[in-house]
Amino acid sequence: MADKSMIVTAALPYANGEIHLGHLVEYSQADFWTRFHKMKGRDCHYFCADDTHGTPIMVSARQQGITPEELIAGARERHLRDLNGFQVHFDNFSSTNSQTNKEMCSEIFLKMQENAHITTRSINQAYCEHDKMFLPDRFVRGECPKCGTEDQYGDSCDSCGATYAPTDLKSPACSICGNAPVEKASEHVFFKLNDFKEYLRSWLLENCTKEVSNKMLEWFEEDLREWDISRDAPYFGFEIPGFKDKYFYVWVDAPVGYMASAKEWCDANGRDFSKYWDDSEIYHFIGKDIVYFHTLFWPAMLKAANKTTPSGVFVHGMLTVNGVKMSKSKGTFINAKTYLEHLDPMYLRYYYACKFNSSMEDVDLNLEDFVSRVNSDLVGKITNLASRGAQMLNKRLGGELCAPDADGLKVIQMAMEKSEEIAALYASRDFSKALRLIREIGDEANRYFDEKAPWKLIKEDEEETRKILSSTLNLFRILAVYLKPILPEYAKKVEVMFSNLKVIELDDLEKLTDLESHVQAKVSDAKDHAGHSELFWKHSLSLIVSGKLNDYEHLATRIDPKTIDLILEASKKDLKAKEAKTKKKDEKKGNSLMSEITIDDFMKVDLRIAKIVDAGPVEGADKLIRLQLDIGEHGTRQVFAGIKAAYDPKDLIGRHTVMVANLKPRKMKFGMSEGMVLAAGAGGSDLFILSPDDGAKAGDRAK
Ligand code: MSP
Ligand code: ZN
Repeated sequence: MADKSMIVTAALPYANGEIHLGHLVEYSQADFWTRFHKMKGRDCHYFCADDTHGTPIMVSARQQGITPEELIAGARERHLRDLNGFQVHFDNFSSTNSQTNKEMCSEIFLKMQENAHITTRSINQAYCEHDKMFLPDRFVRGECPKCGTEDQYGDSCDSCGATYAPTDLKSPACSICGNAPVEKASEHVFFKLNDFKEYLRSWLLENCTKEVSNKMLEWFEEDLREWDISRDAPYFGFEIPGFKDKYFYVWVDAPVGYMASAKEWCDANGRDFSKYWDDSEIYHFIGKDIVYFHTLFWPAMLKAANKTTPSGVFVHGMLTVNGVKMSKSKGTFINAKTYLEHLDPMYLRYYYACKFNSSMEDVDLNLEDFVSRVNSDLVGKITNLASRGAQMLNKRLGGELCAPDADGLKVIQMAMEKSEEIAALYASRDFSKALRLIREIGDEANRYFDEKAPWKLIKEDEEETRKILSSTLNLFRILAVYLKPILPEYAKKVEVMFSNLKVIELDDLEKLTDLESHVQAKVSDAKDHAGHSELFWKHSLSLIVSGKLNDYEHLATRIDPKTIDLILEASKKDLKAKEAKTKKKDEKKGNSLMSEITIDDFMKVDLRIAKIVDAGPVEGADKLIRLQLDIGEHGTRQVFAGIKAAYDPKDLIGRHTVMVANLKPRKMKFGMSEGMVLAAGAGGSDLFILSPDDGAKAGDRAK
């Protein structure tokens, strides 16, 4: 049977944060894994998206004075910049706020409901009368009910570790406005997780590592609690079909975002998603902080909706820097962008690969070790083979390669024989072990090179030297194949360097011992018919026997340890800049959704009665009307008002309205906007901007 397609995902980054080196633990390892399977010729694709919904994003947007849509658009741009910068290649990077995801969420929910796994009941929750919203646990702060430590979150105490409900906190306060919340009842929608208890038990045992399943099965001694999947308005998210003003909790539409991202890719690539998902192996890479969502709720949701469940959930640990949690004050909370301003991403990808394995233990980025490993292994051991070998060949021997010498062939054979073992280690995500084998090959290659001392030999025997250099470059090419999932851009340069060569494919390594006869028989171009010289895994078993090397393109230089200090300093500065910015905003906004202004502020607003002297539609904007407003001695102002649903432009001419006349003019797509009209009503067609003069009552107007 043919191999199944593989769907690989990484957890969706929250849109209210920047990508940092912690995130990259995940995005890089899933990238290594996907690239490896692609090199093996598997139909394998890597999907992700921004996680855009929920209270924190809604509140953060309001505090910045922008819409959530504006906030997530900015985040997307920065996330993609950083992830591309780190050579993380997604086949599709979507957004959970997409139409596709909305439809997918409805479809899944309706299926869950149809299959009787949904129920509703009323619950009490913290509510802020001032901000007019229910407060998630993290938005209530107060004294820990157990140890009395002040300023703790509503779900757990940082000091004594106690967990509790926000209603248990002593002197609780809304973290947005500081007022005490009240308790308020509201109807919520629940998913009956316990319907899947037995299914989940066997799913965990079959599809997760022992480390993960043991941990999760601890919850199975009791019934699995129903999962609250709704949130009340106001909430930035998708309304639940059939439940007015109830929204899907962000953790419902986030994992469905995996499917939506895959579906968008299918739609763009002529694949049928309804088959694709169900016929694929599905693998999720996640951090250990979100295991619960991915190994209980998510497979249960899929099962409840009759969809294929994941074949694997791969859980990694958290990043530590120099042995401790990333710290903003030490400068070790390093954003992707800051790193990229100072260093090539391949260094971190290489170092991470040296550290990654399939366990949940934390991953330590030791900055000193980082510099020394990159310098001694990647540059000193591996890249040097190419730079020394290629430069001598190009300068002294016209760049022409030949078949390797007998000693060289022995080392090459050893390197080729590791192909399957290294592949198996990649497949099982034992990246650090794979890298150890790769380095061992590097060691042997260097030993061979140093023993043969081609820099001396060339003075005596050019043809023998050509053989030594050809062996060395063959070894380097094999190493480049093995490293390609981790160093794709590096490998690309190697591909170019080696694109004009003649190779023989060695389906059987025995042939290496009787090379002569095979050289005659099976020589082919390193380039395929289409002129590509892309390296696949199988090329670790092909041998260069002749051809001309292209110019040596510079591959990697040593890291100057001083660069690390620069990164730490810059990260501290990032933090200071951010603090200053939030402080300013807090002052400006009173850190509240309902920002207060003083009477002096109010006096600055120049409100005037204006006569509408002209009104008309705006091309390309079906909600807007263009108004010309006459305010007497101060002339006229052009204003765009979102009132098209409520008024016909021609009914407005000659009538009066109230406007803010001293608003700073703003250039819009359609022209200058020089003020704002005030309106009352619920919105849509129920909107009133006019004085009831000239006889027409607002209610009489044509709708
Ligand atoms: N939005 C959720 C995931 C939804 S998936 C349907 C989320 N976002 S996150 O931005 O906080 O994290 C995204 C991924 O990065 C998670 O798997 C998380 O574990 C991982 N990491 C975030 N910070 C990390 C470290 N400091 N170290 C290692 N991985 C970390 O969770
Ligand atoms: Zn509040």
